[in-house]
Amino acid sequence: MDKLIIDTDPGVDDGMALQFALASEELHIVGITTVFGNVDIQQTTKNALRLLHLANRPDIPIAKGASKPVQGEFLGGVPFVHGDDGQGNTWKPAGPLKPINTPADEFIIEQVLRYPDQICIAALGPLTNLAMALEKEPKIQDRVKEIVFMGGNAFCSGNATPAAEANMLSDPEAADKVLGANWPMTMVGLDVTHKTMLSRDTLNRISLFRSPLNDHVMEAYQFYQDFFMKTNKIDGTFVHDSSVIAYFIDRSLYKTLEYPIRVETQHCISRGKTWPSLGEADHEGAKALEPWRNRPKIKICLDVKDQEVIQLLEERLTQ
Ligand code: RIB
Ligand code: CA
Repeated sequence: MDKLIIDTDPGVDDGMALQFALASEELHIVGITTVFGNVDIQQTTKNALRLLHLANRPDIPIAKGASKPVQGEFLGGVPFVHGDDGQGNTWKPAGPLKPINTPADEFIIEQVLRYPDQICIAALGPLTNLAMALEKEPKIQDRVKEIVFMGGNAFCSGNATPAAEANMLSDPEAADKVLGANWPMTMVGLDVTHKTMLSRDTLNRISLFRSPLNDHVMEAYQFYQDFFMKTNKIDGTFVHDSSVIAYFIDRSLYKTLEYPIRVETQHCISRGKTWPSLGEADHEGAKALEPWRNRPKIKICLDVKDQEVIQLLEERLTQ
């Protein structure tokens, strides 16, 4: 059973991913760390507290994390996607739970050093907390079992801009640093999440299942679904964060290839783009390939058994 830290910026789809993980006995959630992203850190932390309260899981610690990227300021998030409250403008109170006093980066360091080679991290937002933890204690790269992150786009367009996926664009410097560290990483990016769609019919079936948590996630999902209808003209939503949970539950649902990745950090129209190097003819003098040389290979999910992912998701959310 994987010991899992979920690093998250709830976020409507983060809420469903948390519900998915909590319903999956393959995963033992040892903690949640929050990060700015979809909305500000105060709100993402309140949302995580609310979600765990609704799940009746006060035993799982929540450690509050970064309020802004490693360089620059928080630019306001995407309230037009997730609502001003990050939960579809349902504006529910946080409930009785409180975050622990340990900040997210120190919580990650503590857990990884306490449980060497046992901690997996599901990163569902900007990679700022991971970059800060790595900066504070580089040893964690030799002790963490695996990091699986929702983010990036290897061979397809972005969703935040034509170039970049939202989590990478929120903190490109953090992403480039994290993707250059020597720890096992898997990228669950738009190459597979844009092939995995939760239809309105499936959502309607899931909403028939009544529980305090499912009722809230389904209520929040209305706003998120409306965004997809307006923007992508689809009658459903892409499955972003829950795809990371599906990967942890059953890796055989995804086809991966391994390439070193650089993230565009220049302030240009491609900022935040994840660029894999496919092993171009790296002849000695290829100065142009210098940025990718000696970078670790990242497992990149490039294909998915999407129907099986949706079936697994529906099954777990309604049990
Ligand atoms: O691009 C999708 C990602 O950005 C998801 O993690 C969503 O929650 C937002 O954080
Ligand atoms: Ca997210």
